[in-house]
Amino acid sequence: MDERLIAVKEFSGLTEEDIRVLKAGTLPFNSAERMIENVVGLFPLPLGIAVNFLINDRDYLIPMAIEEPSVVAAASNAAKMTRPTGGFKASSTESIMIGQIQLVRCPSPREAEKNILSSKDEILAKANQQDPTLVSMGGGARDLRVRVLPSHTGTMVIVELLVDCKDAMGANVVNTMAEAVAPDLEQVSKGQVNLRIISNLADKRLARATTHVAKEALGGEDVVDGIVDAYAFAAADPYRCATHNKGVMNGIAAVCLATGNDTRAIEAGAHAYAARTGRYSPITSWHKDEQGDLHGFIEFPAALGIVGGVTAVHPIAKICLKILGVKTARELGEVIAAVGLAQNMAALRALAAEGIQRGHMTLHARNIAIMAGAQGEMVDLVAEKMAAERKVRLDRARELVSEISESRTRRSTK
Ligand code: MEV
Repeated sequence: MDERLIAVKEFSGLTEEDIRVLKAGTLPFNSAERMIENVVGLFPLPLGIAVNFLINDRDYLIPMAIEEPSVVAAASNAAKMTRPTGGFKASSTESIMIGQIQLVRCPSPREAEKNILSSKDEILAKANQQDPTLVSMGGGARDLRVRVLPSHTGTMVIVELLVDCKDAMGANVVNTMAEAVAPDLEQVSKGQVNLRIISNLADKRLARATTHVAKEALGGEDVVDGIVDAYAFAAADPYRCATHNKGVMNGIAAVCLATGNDTRAIEAGAHAYAARTGRYSPITSWHKDEQGDLHGFIEFPAALGIVGGVTAVHPIAKICLKILGVKTARELGEVIAAVGLAQNMAALRALAAEGIQRGHMTLHARNIAIMAGAQGEMVDLVAEKMAAERKVRLDRARELVSEISESRTRRSTK
C-alpha cells in the first residue's frame, strides 16, 4: 500500500496530509453526525485505484470504492487493451437537470398549459432568484416545459424546469427552485400543487464514451465475436440485460461512491435511461469492424457533481477528486463513462472466454481463507490451493488451514 500511495501522490500531487487521511480511511465523527441521523459508527470500504485509463488523450488514475473483488483489476486490464488504439474518446452534453412540479385537479389542463407557457419568463426569473451564485456562473433555470399527463387518478399537468447545474449534481438547487415556483404555478393553473422534485432520469445531462480495441489486444477475432454476441444477448433479453448493465454499473457506481456522488441517483438514471424506448436495453453497445476489431459505445445520464453535497465535506471524496484531477462535473461524467465501458468490456471478454469465475474465484478464495482463520501468507496459500482445485468453499478452507497449521507445528517441533 505504501508503494502505491507514493505513486498516486506523485501522479496527483497529493500532500502528506492527504496521504495520512487516505491511510486512516476514516471520517470525523462530527462530520458523520451531520450527514445522517442516529449515527453509531462508520462503514469503511476498500478504495482501489484503476490504472491504464487514457481518456481524450489524458492519463487518469481512477479511484474506486467497492467491496467486490476483481472490479478494479478488470477495469485496469480492459483499459490497458484500449491504450495502443488511443484509449477512450469521451464527450458530454451540458449539465441540465429536470425539476418536476405536479399540478392536479386543474379545471382545464389545456388552459393551464397555455397560461403556464405564457408566464414562462416570470417563472424562470423566480426560479433563478433562488441561486444567484449559480446564475452568476452561467448556470440556472434555462427553460420550462409543460406536459398534460393522463394518469389513473385523473389528468394532471406536469411542469418541468430545465436547470443548468454546472458543477453541482443539482438536487438541492433544482428542488429549491421547484418549491419556489410552485405557488405561482398553482395560481396560473388554478390547480393544486402536489410533488416538487428533481427527476433522476437526467436525459439532458448525458456522458458518452467510445473505444476501439484491436482484435489482437483482446485475444483474437473469436473473442471479438464473443463480446458482440454477448451484447446481442443483452439487447434481446431483459434477464441478461439487467446483468450486463449491472456490470457497467460496477465501474460507474464505484467511482461515484469514491467521489461522494449519489450512487442511487446514478443507478436510477441509468436504468430508466436504459428503458427509455419502452424496452429495457443495454447502456453500452459493441460491434465488429471490417478489420475484425471491436468498437464500443456507452451513453448514460451523468447527474454528478464536484462541488457541494458530500463531495465538499467528505475528506476522502475530496482526495479522490484530486486524484482524478477533473476540473468540471462534465469531465467527471466523461471519465466515469469510460470506466463503465471498460468494466463492461472486461466482463464480456471474461464471460465469452474463460468464464467469470476464474478471476473472481482467486480473489473470492482469499476472503474464504480469511473466514476460515488463515492469516498472513497462509491466506494466499489456502486461496491458491482452493482456486487450483476449483473448490472454493469454507469447509475446504478450514481443512487446508488445519493441514497447513499442523505441518508447520510438526516442522517447528522437529
Ligand atoms: C458481476 O458483478 C458482473 C457481471 O455479472 C457482469 C456481466 O455479467 O456482464 C460479471
